[in-house]
Amino acid sequence: MIRIPGWMAPLCIAVLAGCSGGPGGDDGAVTVGFSQVGAESEWRTANTRSIKESLAEPAFRLKFSDGQQKQENQIKALRSFIAQRVDVIAFSPVVETGWDTVLAEAKAAGIPVVLTDRAVDVADESLYVTLIGSDFVEEGRRAARWLMADAAGRSGPIRVVELQGTVGSAPANDRMRGFREVIEQDTRFQIVRSQSGDFTRARGKEVMEAFIKAEGQCRIDVLFAHNDDMAIGAIQAIEETGLKPGEDIRIVSIDGVKGAFEAMKAGKLNATVECNPLLGPQLAQLVRDVHAGVVVPKRVFVEESVFTRDQAAAALPSRRY
Ligand code: AHR
Repeated sequence: MIRIPGWMAPLCIAVLAGCSGGPGGDDGAVTVGFSQVGAESEWRTANTRSIKESLAEPAFRLKFSDGQQKQENQIKALRSFIAQRVDVIAFSPVVETGWDTVLAEAKAAGIPVVLTDRAVDVADESLYVTLIGSDFVEEGRRAARWLMADAAGRSGPIRVVELQGTVGSAPANDRMRGFREVIEQDTRFQIVRSQSGDFTRARGKEVMEAFIKAEGQCRIDVLFAHNDDMAIGAIQAIEETGLKPGEDIRIVSIDGVKGAFEAMKAGKLNATVECNPLLGPQLAQLVRDVHAGVVVPKRVFVEESVFTRDQAAAALPSRRY
């Protein structure tokens, strides 16, 4: 059934007043403004590729902007999309808060907003139409469950260090929450250090070096990294101290990118919780539906699983990112 949602009212007024509602012309293509977080990880590169491939001509006209991990850049991009009167805005917000004003501007202009990958924390949820992405809380829980199973029969204390993602981002907030929810049920585990590595390899390495320095070589049993890139950076830091990653320090991370499978195959990473970046096809369908006025679910999840070292060699050839 096709209904006119609330956000379309200003657009209908604009159309009745003789405006086209978009910069596109008469070819039927949907003009989409997409603001990406940046290029901080292997995951993000695969995500950008998937989005660009799926929102391609002739069905779409894509205006792509790279926010370089800065909220101010993303806000500028959204304002520029509004000024250009694109048909739909889609974006992956670098952090959760601080979007109310610009999203209210998009709503006032009658431009529907589709959140991709990451959530926003806004007072009025009607400021966006839908969010497509992973269940980050569940990913944190999965990492903790894997660690608990891996430590079966082992006595405590088990000292854990955590490399968080970008401060204030939905995946960092939610993965911390899900991980703690589960790990705190097992008193053997103690989170002794937790700091942001900004989802990058370079920062993951630096922060892990600082953890090792602060804790001493033999006082870290487990690393939980919010993404594979930080885990790969940390693996280098661990090796440089003469320790064996995956053995002396057990490591679980999140994403499931090829680099993580290679590290697992080499025995240096113990497990990765999948976070699927290939959102492009589902995003394209949502954009089409939203533009056509079809009522879509407020939240669309992506299916994911957990991979361990013993599965890495068999799974690697079929990984698509
Ligand atoms: O929002 C998804 C997260 O962002 C991925 O886990 C991480 O690799 C990326 O930078």
